[in-house]
Amino acid sequence: MAEHPILVTGATGKSGRRVVSRLRAAGHPVRAAARSGEHPFDWTDASTWGAALEGIRAAYVVQLDGTNLVRPFVAQARKHGVRRIVLASGRGIDDPGYVRDRTGMRDGIADSEAAVRESGLEWTISRPGWFAQNFSEGFFADAVAAGELRLPAGDGAATFVDAEDIAEVVAAALTEDGHAGQTYELSGPSAVSLAEAVEAISAAASREIRYVPLSIEDYVAELVDQGLPRAEAAIFADVIEPLREGRDAHVSDGVQRALGRSPRSFAEFVKTATWPGKFG
Ligand SMILES: NC(=O)c1ccc[n+]([C@@H]2O[C@H](COP(=O)([O-])OP(=O)(O)OC[C@H]3O[C@@H](n4cnc5c(N)ncnc54)[C@H](OP(=O)(O)O)[C@@H]3O)[C@@H](O)[C@H]2O)c1
Repeated sequence: MAEHPILVTGATGKSGRRVVSRLRAAGHPVRAAARSGEHPFDWTDASTWGAALEGIRAAYVVQLDGTNLVRPFVAQARKHGVRRIVLASGRGIDDPGYVRDRTGMRDGIADSEAAVRESGLEWTISRPGWFAQNFSEGFFADAVAAGELRLPAGDGAATFVDAEDIAEVVAAALTEDGHAGQTYELSGPSAVSLAEAVEAISAAASREIRYVPLSIEDYVAELVDQGLPRAEAAIFADVIEPLREGRDAHVSDGVQRALGRSPRSFAEFVKTATWPGKFG
């Protein structure tokens, strides 16, 4: 099996990029696939799937949220002789009350989970909560760089998970035995409120960064003022709801179960991250 590369989709993203690095550091051949990646791959262009899957033994599947493409992709993977699939999913996928879902995104991801479970391949599902990296390179990064994070999250807290931990779990599931049939719920070791998160980042970046809690109405109005269609702004507000309501404040045991150690803390993440605007 050693000569066959491992396919990593979403290879330029927050989790995929780190999976690629870890696999390569351990000496595994990797096919790093994304639209802008080393290996061109587009979920919306099925003619790119075959070349991505040719000759591989295992795949990390980062789906295109809002689509139902994982089921046909997994069927094709099976035909190509792929033996192992690790799927990027998310917390709350099995809980209809976790987040309001106007777009059908949750149904799509639930179908992806069902597709890998029914595939007959060795499968593992990664279900992370909010990534800590949302502050440094994701959803909140621009606001953090600008010095003010304005969200309808009240005094909500979450057990933010470090994408380095996600990548280590995924790399282990791709390369080691003992993870087949596991669904790993991944979180950090303790809940951190947005105010605490921003305070820690502010200290590390040596800049004042504030968290400003907004009402849902004010948040939507601000996004509309910035040019976002109202329907899209409402979807952004929905995404924040689990944070506001504390639905992501519990600790999960996936990192411990998969790696036999505790997850990295938010403080460790803050120390090692690069902060946008730090020197600006
Ligand atoms: N961020 C969070 O807090 C969080 C929490 C729980 C679950 N999740 C889920 O975790 C998954 C992975 O998220 P992530 O944060 O690691 O990813 P990410 O940083 O958002 O990156 C997305 C990746 O997908 C690729 N991509 C986008 N459109 C594509 C297309 N049409 N065809 C092929 N590749 C495409 C991107 O590369 P190109 O643009 O170059 O193609 C990039 O490599 C997502 O399903 C997300 O919903 C995220």
